[in-house]
Amino acid sequence: MLVFETKKELQKKLMALWSEDNLGLVPTMGALHEGHASLIRKALDENTHVIVSIFVNPTQFNNTEDLEKYPQTLSADVALIKSISDDILIFTPTINEVYGKLVTHNVYDFQGLDKVMEGRFRDNHFNGVGTIVELLLTLIKPTRAYFGEKDFQQLRIIQKLTKLRNIPVKIIGCPIVREPHGLAMSSRNERLNMELRQKAGFIYETLIAAKDKFGTENALQIKKWAIKRFKRHKDLDLEYIEIVDIETLVPAEQKTKNKKYRAFIAVYAGGVRLIDNIALN
Ligand code: PAJ
Repeated sequence: MLVFETKKELQKKLMALWSEDNLGLVPTMGALHEGHASLIRKALDENTHVIVSIFVNPTQFNNTEDLEKYPQTLSADVALIKSISDDILIFTPTINEVYGKLVTHNVYDFQGLDKVMEGRFRDNHFNGVGTIVELLLTLIKPTRAYFGEKDFQQLRIIQKLTKLRNIPVKIIGCPIVREPHGLAMSSRNERLNMELRQKAGFIYETLIAAKDKFGTENALQIKKWAIKRFKRHKDLDLEYIEIVDIETLVPAEQKTKNKKYRAFIAVYAGGVRLIDNIALN
């Protein structure tokens, strides 16, 4: 297990690996759980060498409290990675190593993908994500990079970013890993008490029911139904529910043949923000 803290050391190591063209990257912000582990396992299945980056990227947080409360559990993270394989490289740079003195984000034209859902509620979040992911991809030059469908909008934006910037990497989407009662795994779940964590299974139940309804009802009817359903729930505060075309992320009004749709939900549970989504067809 090799842990690198500087770009220079890491690049020295990678120099020998680049010629093989078989390097998988899993970018993370740490506080690793089974969702991250599933990405790492898939990367190991598909690549000879795997590198996991652990970096809590300040430029993607629009809320300083959220950034300050973000769990940092480096030794547990390293232990989890080691339990998967001893052969994985880890990159854990400091903020200064990544950004130098100018801790700021680039501004991208994601062609509308960043104007809905998470982008609407989190100012500049995707500019921050784009900045760090572009930096990691150009530094590490992986053959493949792995992202979870848990953050489906992020996945679509990163696909767009690599096209916009002509970055030669395959972006691989990975299915959502869930807790036993259905809640999508997230580093933020640690901030929920046990009772709330179980109750938050309601989010996935709603998504499954929405999928069921999608056969017979239109997007507007389903959204109205879900909003009512959350209003009756005293512990979960719905921020948005959207049903969108997965290519454009534009909210669907009418279903069109041959198009694929997903439903997305963001909810506050006891002050903790949770997101989830499901493929509808
Ligand atoms: P983070 O939230 O740590 O997530 C790292 C990766 O793990 C993301 O691709 C995310 O979608 C995936 N992931 C998280 N929970 C998952 C789950 N339950 N099932 C499947 N995949 C899951 O996303 C980020 O970090 C950052 O924005 C990052 C891309 C690292 C840029 O800073």
